[in-house]
Amino acid sequence: MSVQRTLAIVKPDAVAKRVVGRILTRIEEESFTILAAKLVHMSLAEARGFYYVHRERPFYESLCSFMTEGPCLLMVLEGENVIQRWRDLMGATDPAKAAAGTIRKEFASSIEANAVHGSDSLESAAIEIPYFFSSLELYPR
Ligand code: CMP
Repeated sequence: MSVQRTLAIVKPDAVAKRVVGRILTRIEEESFTILAAKLVHMSLAEARGFYYVHRERPFYESLCSFMTEGPCLLMVLEGENVIQRWRDLMGATDPAKAAAGTIRKEFASSIEANAVHGSDSLESAAIEIPYFFSSLELYPR
């Protein structure tokens, strides 16, 4: 176990549903540190770049369009083993398969509009965090 950082996103569906506060409460209850946070309404180009790894998937264009429907809350979370722990708290990608007590079970609407995102590995976090946050925004505490 080690102290890690992950990119967490509260997606446009959850922001529109006004459940940001309830999701932040879940994050704070886990004792994750919110190192940085900002509300961003992505352009289509920004969404396409972020999800470039999924560019061959049939849902890519729809996903990118959904991510531009409204603002997202972008965050960098820090903590022991935070990558896996945030993914456990989010639950399965498809809310129909998400376990009880997870954020997606409680707040997601569909496999696409699934409320939250988290980096899936150290390698992904190392790409996703600087995609949205500069080193200045992640100043050491
Ligand atoms: P996320 O964890 O952000 O990673 C990729 C996203 O693609 C995922 O959450 C969903 O929003 C979306 N996604 C994954 N699988 C599907 C699918 N089968 N149909 C539509 N969207 C999907």
